[in-house]
Amino acid sequence: MSEKRSSFTGKIGFVLAAAGSAVGLGNIWRFPYLAAKYGGGIFLLVYLILAVTFGFSLMVAEIAIGRKTGQSAIGAFKSLDKRFSFIGVICAVIPIMILPYYSVIGGWVMKYMVGFVTGNAANMANDAYFGSYIGKTFEPVVWFALFIGITALIVLFGVQKGVETVSKFMMPVLVVLTVFIAVYTICTMDGAMDGVIYYLKPDFSHFSIMTVVAAMGQLFYSMSLAMGIMITFGSYTKKDISIEASTRQIEWFDTGVAFLAGLMIIPAVFSFSGGDHAALKQGPGLMFVTLPKVFDKMPGGSFIGALFFVMVLLAALTSSISLMETIVSFLMDNLKLGRKRSCFAVLVFSLLLGLPSCFGYSIWSEVTVLGMQLLDFFDFASNSVLMPIVAFVTCILVGYILKPKAVIEEVEISGPFKSKRLFYVMIRYVAPVCILAILLSSVLNAFGIIKI
Ligand code: PHE
Repeated sequence: MSEKRSSFTGKIGFVLAAAGSAVGLGNIWRFPYLAAKYGGGIFLLVYLILAVTFGFSLMVAEIAIGRKTGQSAIGAFKSLDKRFSFIGVICAVIPIMILPYYSVIGGWVMKYMVGFVTGNAANMANDAYFGSYIGKTFEPVVWFALFIGITALIVLFGVQKGVETVSKFMMPVLVVLTVFIAVYTICTMDGAMDGVIYYLKPDFSHFSIMTVVAAMGQLFYSMSLAMGIMITFGSYTKKDISIEASTRQIEWFDTGVAFLAGLMIIPAVFSFSGGDHAALKQGPGLMFVTLPKVFDKMPGGSFIGALFFVMVLLAALTSSISLMETIVSFLMDNLKLGRKRSCFAVLVFSLLLGLPSCFGYSIWSEVTVLGMQLLDFFDFASNSVLMPIVAFVTCILVGYILKPKAVIEEVEISGPFKSKRLFYVMIRYVAPVCILAILLSSVLNAFGIIKI
């Protein structure tokens, strides 16, 4: 127990570890392809509004619940109110669903990193390269297994300090590289400016309910919310750390990295496609198809590309570690399994569950669930269904059963809570209503009952 409940190395340690979990493929890979697909500027605007209101309030609530109870999700919900124990269980299921397909993408990143490091950059800039790579039966499975294997090894040997240290140097390098690549693209490539406009200028004609559904799912995913991770982080946090200030920092940093990633990728897509909007709808492959082409044009591009993919890999690992750590501690706490056995069980299970996501692009490409590719389906089920459910129930618990005061008091232990009003209104009124509306529309849409 004492090993698991150790605190972070002070305030900066907590922010770094939480940021390490938050900043990952969600920011660099997922945010740009969603922004491209769901309307550029309008998606960005909706996302920003949600982040500073919903995202903020939910993160404060989760960290406070964790710190107040000193437990991870299952125990925390149970000790607050027995009737809410089930939500702790859903919290456990979400990372189990995400980790396998997250690792499949992590495997793609590894493949590209090794490609750049071994001088294969020109080849990867080829239009057909990505499609033919993920269409292979075995190779993506090998990289996926390697990624999840490395994650398991790190989790097995105990991690917190390592994640803090890696985050400390990886984050600044990642930000500098992203800014550099974005500036290079915008200043040197024809047509890139149109992409900047598409990305920054809200065009309300692109707005639909799906813009909000996608932005909200992305918010949960990117900030590692609505699955109990921040509750666990909160349980490690000391009482003198300001929950409000830390949340603001994590939130701005996470959103900043996502914003920059969009700025790095979307203008480049415009430039290479000559402004053809069909190129914006590529989905999960967007980053992997676009960036190697940018690096191919850039002087010193294979070096920059190698460095970039190394940083993305580290960002992905610090996130996958937090995903796996959550599942492992659930098993340790609830099934009383040791760390070794828990890690092994999670590893085997993730390998099995990840295979369909890999094969969905190759031998099982015909298989779809609700009209979605297998990887997209796992992504949808966790981000657009389960996470909104957890977020909704958390709002009800905090807003009506415990009352917002319980969280506010916890936050105020370490100083005044400046956004107390905002928090109160969000958690009690705005967030539950909006989340419910969005949950319903995304589910009804998936089942073809309504068309949005
Ligand atoms: N937030 C991470 C990212 O943006 C993904 C993640 C989700 C990590 C949930 C942990 C928990 O990549």
